[in-house]
Amino acid sequence: MLSSATPKPPRVLSGIQPTGQPHLGNLLGAIRYWVEDQTVGDCYYCVVDLHGLTVPGDPAERRQASMTMATLLLAAGLDPESCTLFLQSHVPAHAQLAWLMECTASFGELARMTQFKDKTAKGGEQTARVGLFTYPCLMAADILAYDADRVPVGEDQRQHLELTRDLALRFNSTYGPTFVIPQAAIPRPGRGARIMNLADPTRKMSKTTDLPSGVVGLFDEPADIERKIKRAVTDADTGPGSVRYDREAKPGVSNLLELLATLRGEDPQRVADRYSRYGDLKADVATAVLDAVEPIQRRYRELSAQPDFVYDVLKTGAKQANAVAAATLQRAYDAIGL
Ligand code: AMP
Ligand code: TRP
Repeated sequence: MLSSATPKPPRVLSGIQPTGQPHLGNLLGAIRYWVEDQTVGDCYYCVVDLHGLTVPGDPAERRQASMTMATLLLAAGLDPESCTLFLQSHVPAHAQLAWLMECTASFGELARMTQFKDKTAKGGEQTARVGLFTYPCLMAADILAYDADRVPVGEDQRQHLELTRDLALRFNSTYGPTFVIPQAAIPRPGRGARIMNLADPTRKMSKTTDLPSGVVGLFDEPADIERKIKRAVTDADTGPGSVRYDREAKPGVSNLLELLATLRGEDPQRVADRYSRYGDLKADVATAVLDAVEPIQRRYRELSAQPDFVYDVLKTGAKQANAVAAATLQRAYDAIGL
């Protein structure tokens, strides 16, 4: 008899660094999609505290930052009944598999990573930590350890995902089929893939920035969020046709349109048709952003009063994650001859 088994749900994995202040770009480019994927996938989400070690930090602050990020993810809608949430350092297979990835990747490949080039542009490569260089190997390990089919991330992670696929294909062709080849799930253009800094819309909104006036932090006071949006840099056009979606010629206005479109589930071009003045557009963007952020802040306040609950979620998550990741690591060890 033919089996009528339903197809397996896709395995989903993603991660976020605990360092720095989480912002609207994180929410719209990644976290929102993590929440959505819970209904269709078998989801593993981790706070990548080991990746956070690539920059200096105080131990007590690091520990707190991981808890804060986990609490925020729960407040944003991750449901421990529908996904596995854990800290990367609680699952030893990540670091172990990362070494295998370091022995699979080439120096040249890692040297081409734009994130490494950007992050070392100021301070120089000589003083950068080696972990910053090998960071993509740890990220590949995070993904491959879970046999992930789908990895929801923002546009800035595309290159790392391509590297992960290359490493998995190389390992498989050298040592036999071991890893699932993952797909990046990046929002469609205009739907939050790359939210820009409001004060300089040619730069990405980022956790580590020297331009905080353009970063909408998820923990910012509502009045500050509103002020940042109302002061967003646009351009000097006025009159008919000045509100249009054109990321090249009108980066500031397009970023605002994209924010509204993403939050309202619409197309940025269509949103543009409804406005003729920047002020009206900004007012509606502010309302939409606050509608999304304020409930998260409220839940965050509730959950941060229950640190034991959050810690239990992470402990249970680590147990579930360990079972999956340890089995993949064993498969990789066997394949490579350990
Ligand atoms: P990070 O802040 O680097 O830990 O990133 C966590 C997730 O948020 C990743 O999937 C990033 O691709 C995504 N992300 C970060 N900044 C932005 C941004 N400005 N716009 C859209 N997605 C972003
Ligand atoms: N490198 C990602 C970032 O900076 C974070 C990350 C680490 C990640 N491991 C991952 C994302 C695995 C997706 C899957 O945003």
